[in-house]
Amino acid sequence: MPMNEEKIRKSLQTQIIGTKIHLFDHLSSTNKWAMTRLVEGAENGELVLAERQSEGKGRLGHTWYSPPGGGLYLSIILHPNLDSAQIYRLTLVAGAACSEALSKLSGEEIHLKWPNDLYAKDRKLGGILCEARIQGDKLTGAVIGIGVNIHLDRKKLPSELESLAISLADLADREWNREEVAAAILNDLEKWYNRLKSGQWSEIVAFCDEKNILKGRQVEVISAGETFNGEVKGLSKEGHLILRLDSGEERHFFEGDTTLSCS
Ligand code: BTN
Repeated sequence: MPMNEEKIRKSLQTQIIGTKIHLFDHLSSTNKWAMTRLVEGAENGELVLAERQSEGKGRLGHTWYSPPGGGLYLSIILHPNLDSAQIYRLTLVAGAACSEALSKLSGEEIHLKWPNDLYAKDRKLGGILCEARIQGDKLTGAVIGIGVNIHLDRKKLPSELESLAISLADLADREWNREEVAAAILNDLEKWYNRLKSGQWSEIVAFCDEKNILKGRQVEVISAGETFNGEVKGLSKEGHLILRLDSGEERHFFEGDTTLSCS
């Protein structure tokens, strides 16, 4: 059944997020739509959702698989008071919110695979893609894009996702209502975003560090075109990934692509 705006509003307890809700049957990408809207002068908190995306965007130029009804595809437009270099903070805020909301709903622990993946049972449940509009060194607007697998039709799943992806329906066998999942995530997102605004950055990092599936594990990090191997020590107070390289040297990464090494 297609999503219904009233059903989202019924469960939404937010002051900022969802001031306006834009619901589409089809978009190329909710993030792309939201970025255009931002340039046109969107209000703080506008929310866009689509039943399906034809060019859903993942990090690093990847495509986000977005079949109709199979997942939640949404983007939130915000006007945060951050420097342009602090956009990654929104990824951690969204990760904390999704982890908390989806754990409560599914009864399973939802981990974060730094910087932007949502993991359950060692498989990918969802992802976050933050984009920003920058003028000078100020971030004048941001878009937080969130994709969550709700129900995956394994027969139609692209082969590269077969052993990687998991859905909420795989975690808990119940009727999954996408409006309820969206509202739960957005309620927690506003709570964590308010923590960011009120200076509680260290609490956000501590939560993400505790949920970080990479902690203590051997990983490969590709950052700025270079590849590094080592053991993840955790997150620094800035929210950067701390890697103890095989050479013994410690490196901090503020961005990068991480892959668990086979043990
Ligand atoms: C990733 O894991 O690489 C991030 C995936 C983010 C996907 C979501 S789906 C809703 C929003 N719109 C997009 O085009 N991408 C994000």
